[in-house]
Amino acid sequence: MTVIKKSDEDYILEAKKILENGGLVVFPTETVYGLGANAFDKVACKKIYEVKGRPSDNPLIIHIGDISQLNKIAKNISDDAKKIIGRFWPGPLTLIFDKTDIVPNSVTGGLETVAVRMPNHNTALNLLKKTEIALAAPSANISGRPSPTKASHVVNDLFGKVDMIIDDDSSEIGIESTILDLSEDEPRILRPGFITKNMIEEVLQKEVVYDACSTTKPKAPGMKYKHYSPMGELTILRGDLHSICNYINESTKADEVTVLLALESHKNIINKYNFKFIVLSYGENVEQACTNMYSLLRKCDELGAKKIYTIDFERNEIGYSIMNRLDKAAAFRVENLNEKK
Ligand code: TXA
Ligand code: MG
Repeated sequence: MTVIKKSDEDYILEAKKILENGGLVVFPTETVYGLGANAFDKVACKKIYEVKGRPSDNPLIIHIGDISQLNKIAKNISDDAKKIIGRFWPGPLTLIFDKTDIVPNSVTGGLETVAVRMPNHNTALNLLKKTEIALAAPSANISGRPSPTKASHVVNDLFGKVDMIIDDDSSEIGIESTILDLSEDEPRILRPGFITKNMIEEVLQKEVVYDACSTTKPKAPGMKYKHYSPMGELTILRGDLHSICNYINESTKADEVTVLLALESHKNIINKYNFKFIVLSYGENVEQACTNMYSLLRKCDELGAKKIYTIDFERNEIGYSIMNRLDKAAAFRVENLNEKK
């Protein structure tokens, strides 16, 4: 049975009991909702994989509420790592460390390293601090589906399969944490997120490289799987608004729900015309687009959209991170309308 608790209700004692007994608790974070189990309980961690339908070689992030928990699970913590922690924790940044012996292989997918994050979210921190349990937690979606940024998304994917869902406001950031690997000579971003390359370089005063797309031997195993997909076929359109609207209008069939994901300002313009497709708004800017993206992809499913199109964001800073997710959701389908002119 799944208990749903509002974040202003008393959930700590019950959550602690569930976690101590090897159960699963879904909790909100500032990035996306997490599907948590006691990180030191191998059987409970295995359950996470079953419930999500997640491949067992895809390791989990351990969430901590207090820095003292870090030394138990990570070793060889470098000065660079300390600087990054000082600047970005709690926050949407995961660090990769050499693991200690007490971290079970079921959490790390057999790797000698462990991913750790301290989320910057009152409910998540309250849960982690008061239960004093470090939580292994992936995003609380069925594998391959868009990550959940609202409790209703979690209910759709996991109701009946987890013991508790803690319902809070929407996840403010909306895309998963940046993953930074400092365990080798060159700092590497294994997954881009809200904390950008420039922000990290500014703290470290050295160059940071992106390693998110190396497909041969991905360092973050999760990056090799198809991800974040809506049911309909998503295509990224590169071009001006006029070309985008004409392209979609010409390719839309009368009996097929077709959606364009665009900024609020685009929507205002497009809605003055009588196009055959629906426009859903990302919000005013790229930050709001991150917050709303996964929710919009799920909305497309609810609408039964067969074809989904999105505008392209400039691939720098946070735009790089949202395009990393959209590229995957679109299985790298991009139409360059500028070339067609
Ligand atoms: O924002 C987030 O990070 C969310 C919230 C719940 O904290 N969590 C999340 O977890 O996105 P998940 O499991 O969906 O993604 C974790 C990623 C995967 O791509 C996995 O391969 C990578 O982290 N990862 C975990 N441990 C790793 C390790 N030791 N080395 C490299 N990559 C690792
Ligand atoms: Mg995930």
